[in-house]
Amino acid sequence: MHRVPHTNRRHVLKLLAASTAAPLILPRRLFGQDAPSNKITLGCIGVGWQGGSNLDSFLGLDGCRVVAICDVDEKHLKDAVDKVNARYQNQDCKGYKDFRELLARKDIDAVSISTPDHWHSIPAIAAANAGKDIFCEKPLSHTLAEGIAMVDAVQKNKRIWQTGSWQRAQGLFRWAAELVQNGYVGKVTRVEVGLPAGHADFERSGKDKPNGPAPDGVDYDFWIGPSQMMPFNPCRFHKNWRWNYNTGGGQLMDWIGHHCDIAHWGLANPEFGGGPDDALGPNEVSATAEFPAKDDAWNTATKYRIECKYPNNIDLVIAGGYGEIRSGAKWIGPNGWVWVNRGKIEASDPQWIRDIQEREKKGDLKVTLYKSPGHHKEFLDSIKSRKRTLTPVEIAHRSQSPGHLGYIAAVVGRKLKWDAAKQEITGDAEASKLLSKKMREPWKI
Ligand SMILES: NC(=O)c1ccc[n+]([C@@H]2O[C@H](COP(=O)([O-])OP(=O)(O)OC[C@H]3O[C@@H](n4cnc5c(N)ncnc54)[C@H](O)[C@@H]3O)[C@@H](O)[C@H]2O)c1
Repeated sequence: MHRVPHTNRRHVLKLLAASTAAPLILPRRLFGQDAPSNKITLGCIGVGWQGGSNLDSFLGLDGCRVVAICDVDEKHLKDAVDKVNARYQNQDCKGYKDFRELLARKDIDAVSISTPDHWHSIPAIAAANAGKDIFCEKPLSHTLAEGIAMVDAVQKNKRIWQTGSWQRAQGLFRWAAELVQNGYVGKVTRVEVGLPAGHADFERSGKDKPNGPAPDGVDYDFWIGPSQMMPFNPCRFHKNWRWNYNTGGGQLMDWIGHHCDIAHWGLANPEFGGGPDDALGPNEVSATAEFPAKDDAWNTATKYRIECKYPNNIDLVIAGGYGEIRSGAKWIGPNGWVWVNRGKIEASDPQWIRDIQEREKKGDLKVTLYKSPGHHKEFLDSIKSRKRTLTPVEIAHRSQSPGHLGYIAAVVGRKLKWDAAKQEITGDAEASKLLSKKMREPWKI
């Protein structure tokens, strides 16, 4: 069956429920009846580094028309609007500083959200409530509680959601997950997720610049939004916001939505792993981390190690800065191991890798995973079919949850008991408080 492991009955029922819950009569404006050439109409919110790349991907696809851009930096906004208008050879694309004005437009079917992490949940929930389908970047949310609220909003409004966890659209990652889901390593006992350590200076700003005025054309108050107000500092601004806990989550949260997402994908067959990937969660989490001083501009953990116990006797370790945990995802079982990273796949028996590709082609695998036509195209396809994407909101939320929990365990310095069904930390009030953050007024979810 399309995208569904044969053995995963609960997952099938859930998918069927999701698809039958979709409206039988699609809104008139869907597929851009109000738009040029009957295409899906799209608004892009946040057009910096990744937002620019997502915009390019959508501009390259015939099935959609970008009609609006929103950014709180006038320069980013103007560059993106100009790019869209040049692409379509007209002046139809409108620019907005406030995403609420863009979302109020009834002629927009879907949005792409590529704002910094602290600015995912509010526009995403507002978009779901406004009836838009949503492409949103990883990690799903800045806090675990925000992720729960996003899942609720998307489910309640029956929206199509794709997360920017594009690795699921790539052959190497799919073959790795198929090898594990088809039992090549046997029943998985251990999973290793290797992520980067330290910080990377993406803006060549350095990390020791003095505070100063925000650049002309930047609405810094809006940019800070629901996070705590801090003086403007170029080291904590575009791209490098991820190295300060006020706006990002460091390397751990920057990468968890990629490699931990793939690790969970491999485990999505209960016969060999831990259960449906969108219901996966550890029941114990302990962690250590090295944190810079709290008031450093870049105060996110430079080295970390999170040890999780999953149901079905699986140990899952997430580490940054530990050489023995290779970057990528590795599954280990009684028959051997499979490891994958960008551009490379390896297995204890190299023949498995040729085997999985041949068997996938022949169609004789017990579990065949969906072969994406491209991450952005798949989103557009799902908007039309109303079928779940490869990276729906529930999955993205579960992929990032061990990262949020690991951070909390490292801060409180003790093991957490996690009830993955209720999504609650058991018997630890101090740790439970860290599942959410107070938002700066007037922002709230
Ligand atoms: N999928 C991937 O491979 C990938 C790669 C890089 C980044 N990302 C994710 O993409 C997101 C953006 O990261 P980035 O590196 O592009 O950051 P960035 O700083 O380069 O860009 C963010 C943009 O959002 C704008 N912005 C901020 N607040 C806004 C608001 N309230 N409304 C509208 N615009 C707003 C900023 O002005 C900026 O133009 C992050 O969540 C990041 O984790 C994903």
